[in-house]
Amino acid sequence: MKVLILGSGGREHALAWAVARSPRVTEVVCAPGNGGIAQIARCVPVKLNDVDAMVGLTEAERPGLTLVGPELPLSLGVVDALKERGLRVFGPTRQAALLETSKGFAKRFLQRHTIPTPNYAVCASAAELEKAIDVFHPPIVVKADGLAAGKGVIVCDSRATALEGAHGLFAGTLLGEPERQVVIEEFLTGEEISFLCLSDGKHVIPLLPAQDHKRIGEGDTGPNTGGMGVYTTDELLAPAMREWILHHIAEPTIRGMAEEDTPFAGVLYCGLMMTARGPEVLEFNARFGDPEAQAILVRLESDVVDALEACIDGNLGSLELRWSPGASACVVASSAGYPGAYKTGVAISGLGAAAQVPGVEIFHAGTARVGQQMLTTGGRVLGATAAAASLEEALARAYQALAEIHFEGIYFRRDIGRRALKLSQ
Ligand code: AMP
Ligand code: GLY
Repeated sequence: MKVLILGSGGREHALAWAVARSPRVTEVVCAPGNGGIAQIARCVPVKLNDVDAMVGLTEAERPGLTLVGPELPLSLGVVDALKERGLRVFGPTRQAALLETSKGFAKRFLQRHTIPTPNYAVCASAAELEKAIDVFHPPIVVKADGLAAGKGVIVCDSRATALEGAHGLFAGTLLGEPERQVVIEEFLTGEEISFLCLSDGKHVIPLLPAQDHKRIGEGDTGPNTGGMGVYTTDELLAPAMREWILHHIAEPTIRGMAEEDTPFAGVLYCGLMMTARGPEVLEFNARFGDPEAQAILVRLESDVVDALEACIDGNLGSLELRWSPGASACVVASSAGYPGAYKTGVAISGLGAAAQVPGVEIFHAGTARVGQQMLTTGGRVLGATAAAASLEEALARAYQALAEIHFEGIYFRRDIGRRALKLSQ
């Protein structure tokens, strides 16, 4: 079978790697892909904001299965467009992807279905927000309704700064585009967990829970990023807690979407805060996380294509996933300046030596190959991902591989998984 993957990040590299391991797969095509993906798949150019181009490409390639990696094409309805043409595609419809693409929709949905989430108000104007804010005690979280690539959340230590932030979102001075709705939310404290599940619209199978490191700086300081590193361990959540989240958060979400005639098939990523009163939903994503996908997929022993096809065919109820025991870690290396402005076109060296470190996969994100040279093209450049019997070992391998890689301004956090290591001692 030929598989087409839409996207160009580390997540898509990991998906291409996992798909290529399936004995059922004869060819992997990735659009547009990146320098690393080009080593294991045929890359073809496409714009991920151009639904017609993505449909045209898929019709021309005629893959047996298309996977949509990032949120942008989901938000534009590429899955709907491909399905209308009878093509087999993994990912939620535009309406189902509203769980990620509209925070206002997600919050109201959570409330309708009594799924735990912080107290909130969805406001359509600054005047409405000024009224609603009185019942919130600082710190107050202000969120853009729409997709914002991790830049749409402001934590404010007073009502005045919350109002200022909300004004900036409504006026379009913060994100470029004016927001039609802004969500204000109670600030929660606790450990954040990425709880990803597969769903066929009816059944739900959890993947391995993971912990992301969203801030750029060590010790979780500085601005938010797309994610600077992730780990999974068998101990991350106790079995009873995993069951609780499945029964009280993931399953009711899938049931609720089906009841509302917008069944959700694909990856449901529940971004959770483990609070003193239990897990609560901070956000949903309608896709694999990046870099969660990298750390999760290196531990998947089952055939990923069987699992993704079961989501399309409604057969997830009879599927069981096998995982390698132990742990995994992915440490992301970024360009100097990220998540602000950064240089591109910087030469990368040491990739060969890094690939020699046992048990490590280097998944590329912002790279392109020009002639014989790999160059940086993005903020998050690549990540070193390792699975091992223990988190300590997985991290040691990932960091050993990164020590081999050089490019001007390379930056990575040296404390990925450190809190988890301390807790387990
Ligand atoms: P979101 O895009 O909604 O997940 O927000 C991005 C990040 O902001 C989350 O991963 C959290 O670290 C933080 N955040 C969002 N909402 C809250 C909240 N209600 N309380 C505390 N932190 C939050
Ligand atoms: N790593 C967070 C995300 O994929 O949204």
